[in-house]
Amino acid sequence: MAVKHFLDLSDAGGDAIAAMLADAQDRKAARKDWPKGRVDADAPLSGHVLAMIFEKNSTRTRASFDIAMRQLGGSALILDSGTSQLGRGESIADTARVLSRMVDAIMIRTDDHAKAEELAHHASVPVINGLTDRSHPCQIVADLLTMVEHGKALPGLELAWLGDGNNVLHSILEAAGLFKFNVRVGVPQGYEPESEFVEMARRGGSTVTLTQDAGEAARGADIIVTDTWVSMGQQHAHNKLAAMAPFQVGASLMEQAKPDAKFLHCLPAHVGDEVTEAVFEGPQSVVFDEAENRIHAQKSILLWCHGLLGT
Ligand code: CP
Ligand code: NVA
Repeated sequence: MAVKHFLDLSDAGGDAIAAMLADAQDRKAARKDWPKGRVDADAPLSGHVLAMIFEKNSTRTRASFDIAMRQLGGSALILDSGTSQLGRGESIADTARVLSRMVDAIMIRTDDHAKAEELAHHASVPVINGLTDRSHPCQIVADLLTMVEHGKALPGLELAWLGDGNNVLHSILEAAGLFKFNVRVGVPQGYEPESEFVEMARRGGSTVTLTQDAGEAARGADIIVTDTWVSMGQQHAHNKLAAMAPFQVGASLMEQAKPDAKFLHCLPAHVGDEVTEAVFEGPQSVVFDEAENRIHAQKSILLWCHGLLGT
């Protein structure tokens, strides 16, 4: 059987991601109020080890994959570029072949998406994209879980993205095509998402609108999402921050959305830049549910990669 890599949402497809969302909800409910490190009753990944390669910083992805493996009965180890031989120039190909002899799956967070693809090409165990400059699929499984938990049906949902057309938006657009929800992107000129992802969503049956009018993007939305204006590896350019300013998510923008709209942010947030404190801390914000759901989402992704969930 082919190795099940998870470099982007389409690697799994809509049916498998729907199975992940159902499994994540079941597992989350089954361990409600348990200590976070207790192993799930069925310990489905007992004895399995995940290696996590970090070439960029992380709090949520690092912690949630580690805890996810513990809850599934396995364990995880971290290799960061500062202290592993990757940082001294050992090739991705050799790293993939060595780790494939030692662990059962590999997660990588890196800059160039081609590095994750190369790792997957040379690995004989599943490789998971824990964020690249191009996409952040694991985040979006957690985001979909959060939307569903908060009573949103995905098909036909109206999602508004405000701000930078970045890696997180790319994976949202990919999800939109798989689940047939619509995306209105409020984005300053020059910072649009890559057209490849817009086309992918449209091919899947999603309506995608790009607008330079933040109000138009937010109007009637079920979900409002934003992210940092400066992603990891990017410069703090003053002209970019100035261009982004009209796309800040504040109370007046939230008022344009549906009254029961929810606010999502993958975190870390820069309160006062892409979102005001009133919205971030307000009743429509579900950002900490979203952060917790990283654990539950990772578990289902890991199970799918190990052939234990979906097709
Ligand atoms: N949202 C997210 O991926 O957070 P980290 O960068 O902390 O992993
Ligand atoms: N777009 C952000 C997401 C961080 C989780 C970045 O790439 O830095």
